[in-house]
Amino acid sequence: MDIFLLLFALLLLIFGMLFGIYFFYAVFLSKNFQYPPAFPSFGNMRKQALLEAETFLSSADKSLKVIDLGCGIGGLLVPLAKKFPNCQFVGYDWDFFVVKIARWRCRKLKNVSIVHANFLQADLSSYDLILGFLGVKASQDLSLILQEKFKPKAKLISLAFEVPGLKYDKVIDATSYGMPLKVYVYHNGNNL
Ligand SMILES: C[S@@+](CC[C@H](N)C(=O)[O-])C[C@H]1O[C@@H](n2cnc3c(N)ncnc32)[C@H](O)[C@@H]1O
Repeated sequence: MDIFLLLFALLLLIFGMLFGIYFFYAVFLSKNFQYPPAFPSFGNMRKQALLEAETFLSSADKSLKVIDLGCGIGGLLVPLAKKFPNCQFVGYDWDFFVVKIARWRCRKLKNVSIVHANFLQADLSSYDLILGFLGVKASQDLSLILQEKFKPKAKLISLAFEVPGLKYDKVIDATSYGMPLKVYVYHNGNNL
């Protein structure tokens, strides 16, 4: 019995240490949480964002290009890529560990590529649909980029955060687990 308790305590200690190390890595990467850490979209917010993306992709009569800015472990990309095998999906993330998991999850999906890089370096002018669960700072950065590089007729779906400087087409109520979250939908040509 004692040996099991000891093993359990040891496992807990190792897990705690790994989590601690990862936490400092995440703080460093996110520049003290100015940029969003690896936290997957969830609940009704994720559901509404996926529904909106699916409606847009279904309405097209050609193959579209989709990017998830900060794709995490692929919570948005994986279901969309499975449902729309004719479209091309790209996920950018700068977190080494989540990129490894996302690539493993997408290993059988030929229409997905996961890029280990800062999404601010992505050329957004070639994408028809942009997804992001970003945060205040990244939404501000994105706004500046999109004011120059937003493909005509392209759409942006922003989970939880409004993108300043762009006028949304609609705001979807996405209350999740009692939190009054929203999904913001934009298209090029609708600048403030
Ligand atoms: C809130 S999570 C969103 C995950 C995913 N989009 C989803 O909805 O499940 C944000 C992700 O963005 C990544 N990230 C934040 N800033 C980034 C940046 N400038 N470049 C690349 N990845 C970034 C983080 O590592 C994290 O995995």
